[in-house]
Amino acid sequence: MTPSPRRYHITTFGCQMNKADSERMAGVLDHMGLVWTDDPYQADLVLYNTCTIRDNAEQKVYSYLGRQARRKQQRPDLTLVVAGCVAQQEGEALLRRVPELDLVMGPQHANRLQDLLDQVLAGNQVVATDAVDIMEDITKPRRDSQVTAWVNVIYGCNERCTYCVVPGVRGVEQSRMPQAIRTEIEELGRQGFKEVTLLGQNIDAYGRDLPGSTVAGRHQHNFTDLLYYLHDVSGIERFRFATSHPRYFTERLIRACAELPKVCEHFHIPFQSGDNQVLKAMARGYTQEKYRRIIHTIRSYIPDAAISADAIVGFPGETEEQFQHTLDLVNDIAFDHLNTAAYSPRPGTPAARWDNQIDEPIKADRLQRLNHLVAVKAAERSQRYQGRIEEVLVEAINPKHPAQVMGRTRSNRLTFLPGDLAVLKGQIVAVKITQVRPFSLTGEPLIPVS
Ligand code: SAH
Ligand code: SF4
Ligand code: F3S
Repeated sequence: MTPSPRRYHITTFGCQMNKADSERMAGVLDHMGLVWTDDPYQADLVLYNTCTIRDNAEQKVYSYLGRQARRKQQRPDLTLVVAGCVAQQEGEALLRRVPELDLVMGPQHANRLQDLLDQVLAGNQVVATDAVDIMEDITKPRRDSQVTAWVNVIYGCNERCTYCVVPGVRGVEQSRMPQAIRTEIEELGRQGFKEVTLLGQNIDAYGRDLPGSTVAGRHQHNFTDLLYYLHDVSGIERFRFATSHPRYFTERLIRACAELPKVCEHFHIPFQSGDNQVLKAMARGYTQEKYRRIIHTIRSYIPDAAISADAIVGFPGETEEQFQHTLDLVNDIAFDHLNTAAYSPRPGTPAARWDNQIDEPIKADRLQRLNHLVAVKAAERSQRYQGRIEEVLVEAINPKHPAQVMGRTRSNRLTFLPGDLAVLKGQIVAVKITQVRPFSLTGEPLIPVS
């Protein structure tokens, strides 16, 4: 009798970058003959792909790891892996804290998983956190969806926002070559994928590190050029991209989005704070006036564009008045969606060492007030969909109502409609919106439009 194959499980925390890395690591494990299981407590290999953006994200990992470490004491053949940003931040220290670990690997090593596991199988405890050139994506990712896919275009971050761990854990910017990106997307088109989200921490900084000349002060491989270059890949009907940094967001990029029919009308551009002094202390490199101008320009080209962003409350030194400026910005711009967070001091970042930290109850109060305003504004923004006909790309069953399917509008609103997934999956359906909620919609399908 052949032994049953080893089972693996990956739990992913954090941002889309980590999700994309997990899909590639799952691809490697599939390729090695392991078999996916949903249950981390049935698996023979458990991989936590971790996030350290805020303290609570980091702590979550330790509680999961504690349980697996106890399990390993009963089952020494269990392989325990910590990947991602906590792995990069903590390195060797993680082994001292959880000696049961077999492998600690930073995000730049995701494509090298097989190599690293070979070293583990040879009996080594391995830490891979040195800075490396990202290997081209030779692995075939095991993608969660068969309709939408993430494609990395730039890794790392060259900014130095004073609150943020990302540059420390993700390293310097490394753009992939346009041809390699296009080849990956062509393959996705052949496999039947319909939507691609291009990923980068600051995607609009794409290309700065690529070889090539600068003409009239403009790099010849910038993100706008990339959009034009990728746009006609056949089979792919929608392009999205995230995350944009206000410093690099140009009118030329906005024009490209307005011009290129496959690029969806949704922009995720974090502003972090609506106060210029706070923005300066954060070292963001723009003012709130510049941010407002960008949104204004987007809306002048694409009046119905959906706008989302990230914001932090309770940054060191933030006064009530400065916080009010964030509320003013949110009120004036009326975001479709906003990710909000209380400032969390992070190891190795400048702002964590400052002595003007804000008390936790004040942060919590500001967060609650901001979230309330966000919900009010999102509800107002949703109203415009009532009775409208929207194109929805159907992705999956509505887990709460199996007789419904769900997908997203071009503007990224989650939308539910009655229907059979077997028929509609991967279809773009014209849907008449009948119910609106702050962050989702419900509607009735008209005839399929594609
Ligand atoms: N590169 C993107 C964001 C990456 S991190 C950008 O520059 O906009 C995702 C979000 O986490 C950030 O936008 C910020 O709002 C939040 N964040 C980062 N560090 C944080 C910290 N120390 N405390 C609270 N929120 C933080
Ligand atoms: Fe962090 Fe700033 Fe880089 Fe965004 S731009 S990842 S917030 S350092
Ligand atoms: Fe978290 Fe790393 Fe992303 S810290 S937000 S997983 S880049």
